[in-house]
Amino acid sequence: MAQNILFVCLGNICRSPAAEGVFRALCPEVETDSAGTASYHVGSPPYGAMQAAAKARGLDLSDLRARQFTPQDFARFDLIIAMDGENLANIEAQRPEGATTPVKLFTDYAPGQGADHVPDPYYTRDFDGCLDLIEAAAGGLAKTLR
Ligand code: 4NP
Repeated sequence: MAQNILFVCLGNICRSPAAEGVFRALCPEVETDSAGTASYHVGSPPYGAMQAAAKARGLDLSDLRARQFTPQDFARFDLIIAMDGENLANIEAQRPEGATTPVKLFTDYAPGQGADHVPDPYYTRDFDGCLDLIEAAAGGLAKTLR
């Protein structure tokens, strides 16, 4: 069973902190973190509109702070979950030699949703749709751990 899971998006202020918030509520026994492949928002809390949409579902994301993904994360986590294919390619490009930690697309855990990535609500503005997809994928991921 995966004990430490890292959720990764681009900015680490919308999708991956939401994924972390949803998943830690579902599986509090698993250690979680999130990171962004980009550094623009390092140190920032989750984006206000995402925090509000999450709060409406009973999820408090206010303790989370953005950080940038680093190659050391391959050693720190048992499983790395990317929100889209670009994030996944960026993570894989930083894989240290010999690192075996799997990197998966989050949508792989929600095959019924017909999505091959989690669309970025920073651009789509569909924070609720994003949370719906994240909740489905988090549920699917939780099932694989049991
Ligand atoms: P996220 O969304 O990757 O889901 O955190 C983004 C937030 C901000 C930016 C890009 C993506 N940005 O370019 O500032």
